[in-house]
Amino acid sequence: MIHSRIAGTGSHLPEKVLTNFDLEKMVDTSDEWIRTRTGIERRHVAADGETTVDLAEFAARRALDAAGLAPGDVDFIAFGTTTPDLVFPNCGVLLQARLGCRNVPAFSVETACAGFMYALSIADKYVRCGEAKRALVVGAETLSRITDWSDRSTAVLFADGAGAVVLEPGSEPGVLSTHLHADGHYKDLLYCGGGVSRGFGPKLTINMSGNEVFKVAVTKLGQAVDEALAANGLDRSALDWLVPHQANIRIIQATARKLDMPMERVVVTVQEHGNTSAASVPLALDVAVRDGRIKRGDLLLLEAFGGGFTWGSALVRY
Ligand code: COA
Repeated sequence: MIHSRIAGTGSHLPEKVLTNFDLEKMVDTSDEWIRTRTGIERRHVAADGETTVDLAEFAARRALDAAGLAPGDVDFIAFGTTTPDLVFPNCGVLLQARLGCRNVPAFSVETACAGFMYALSIADKYVRCGEAKRALVVGAETLSRITDWSDRSTAVLFADGAGAVVLEPGSEPGVLSTHLHADGHYKDLLYCGGGVSRGFGPKLTINMSGNEVFKVAVTKLGQAVDEALAANGLDRSALDWLVPHQANIRIIQATARKLDMPMERVVVTVQEHGNTSAASVPLALDVAVRDGRIKRGDLLLLEAFGGGFTWGSALVRY
């Protein structure tokens, strides 16, 4: 039986940094408020002209290097983003053109902050059924382009970045399970108010009912982690690491409490880059792999939640 395993990880953040103190000069907020309510201390913002695919290319090349593969070896690209460079071609195809792996499937999924989880789940299925052997899974965003920098309720939260993993076939499981969910009933709580068919309007920016998003996120992520463990017949004590969506430290802490996990076993990077949506889980994973916390053989629970709402989990033997 074929399984998929993570052969390499990579990430990239744009050079420009905006600290909470910088934001104090832009909107009526304070470093103290942002840190205590969200855990965020700084975020990275793309330079003028720097695009989602630019960030993704760095992350993808790092993941391929870590896997010992050349860009031309990739035979499948799944790309999660809600901030694409173009309406079409999709970001997967634009990345493929740069990597030079011609003729292989390349697509993007726009499931907001759960974009990487959806892309990972699809790629895992293709590797497991033998149709892909070196699948590149990317989450990348330039949310700064759809952030209203005069709205303090969202400007302090969202930012830019990219993360990637390479999946390869293995004889032992790797990705043990993925679970995906969506509930469009909640579409008005977190959305970007414009698009091609509706028109872009004067302001193409993120709108969010923060308090309500918070409550649903905590509930759904709690159910998602239970679901992942139950599907694998595992107790929460079996987990080595929680690698959560990096949106808000209080949501992360709530999920850790649900799992009875000490925060030392939770990968937290939100302070460094804010909410980078589809990029946040692969970014956090790459940081913890590269700094030596996550080791081969560790059992990881990945989860993310985002606009739609969309959410999902992956249980992974690294
Ligand atoms: N600086 C200072 N004050 C701010 C502020 C900011 N950046 N943003 C909001 N406030 C104010 C509000 O206006 C409100 O003031 P009021 O009491 O005078 O009306 C007060 O702070 C409390 O606002 P509230 O929205 O209740 O705060 P909160 O504790 O819920 O925290 C969030 C706000 C956005 C941090 C929190 O709701 C959250 O993280 N939600 C989830 C967001 C998220 O993760 N979204 C992405 C999911 S993928």
